[in-house]
Amino acid sequence: DLPSFVKIVEVGPRDGLQNEKGNVPTSVKIQLIHKLVDAGLSVVEATSFVSPKWVPQLADAKEVLKGIQQVPDVRYPVLTPNLRGFEAAVAAGAKEIAVFASASESFSKSNINCTIDESLVRYRDVTAAAKKHGLLIRGYVSCVIGCPVEGAIDPSKVAYVAKELYNMGCSEISLGDTIGVGTPGSVAVAAMLEAVMSFVPVDKIAVHFHDTYGQALANILVSLQMGISIVDSSVSGLGGCPYAKGATGNVATEDVVYMLHGLGIETNVDLNKLMEAGDYISKHLGRPVGSKTAAALRKL
Ligand code: HMG
Ligand code: MG
Repeated sequence: DLPSFVKIVEVGPRDGLQNEKGNVPTSVKIQLIHKLVDAGLSVVEATSFVSPKWVPQLADAKEVLKGIQQVPDVRYPVLTPNLRGFEAAVAAGAKEIAVFASASESFSKSNINCTIDESLVRYRDVTAAAKKHGLLIRGYVSCVIGCPVEGAIDPSKVAYVAKELYNMGCSEISLGDTIGVGTPGSVAVAAMLEAVMSFVPVDKIAVHFHDTYGQALANILVSLQMGISIVDSSVSGLGGCPYAKGATGNVATEDVVYMLHGLGIETNVDLNKLMEAGDYISKHLGRPVGSKTAAALRKL
């Protein structure tokens, strides 16, 4: 049985723009977020309060978050790797944060410069502070299928990190196939989801597929069949992680919406308006739109 409604978490302004070589002006980021919300997306990850030495693309996090005209009932989570990022996010008006751990030791080291357990200690402080402020918290687990250095990742490692994040107060656990290697068969995505589901309720689990190998939509369909109803995606397929070699963009939101609507699943997203947001950012980046659905519909 498929869900009748899927909540899409748009991560393009963060996951997408963190990986762009050129500088995207703050005003363009803000406009993009406004357009995405206008298209009906109820969760738009806005930016990251990370070290500008690590991710210079998002060094304007404060200006972006302050510049957004927040619409009631829309969520604008921001990534916070430590208490310092958390405090800056709160000062800039964040009402929801996201912490990001990894199921792979190597990726944890290259992405946030600490071990998995060190990151969990750090995130316990961040989530405690967030709860005190009444903020919502998303928890990411990266490399849930594979790691660029370690290869295949055991589902029990993913389940461990997911359980820890859930127990420290994350209200949504997003499972990231950072390098897009997952396939829809029982040995990869399904086994990983099953392992996580023994610790985290299915309605608290989101899937976050990068489309590096073209498997994302198939993996989303399998996830829906297993009861998942929260899907992360990125307008025009923007994205990638600067610390995951070979990772390309997230699955394109337009393609996800097209598939879901075709399946009779509601999203509240207006595909035409969404495509306008995709056109807007693609034009700014000087490249063709990265969604197959948008490219096809634009030719009609
Ligand atoms: P570090 O170098 O180990 O720690 O970085 P540090 O404390 O020595 O800090 C280094 C410098 O950054 C210092 O500046 C700090 O003050 C500053 P200096 O003293 O040298 O002038 N700093 C900060 N500045 C602003 N905001 C902060 C902050 N913290 C420290 N919050 C750290 C450790 C975690 C900070 C660093 O590794 C970092 O920022 N990493 C973030 C990397 C990142 O954003 N990766 C992409 C997001 S994750 C992702 O894409 C995956 C996901 O999409 C899911 C999936 O696909 O799997 C979520
Ligand atoms: Mg990602």
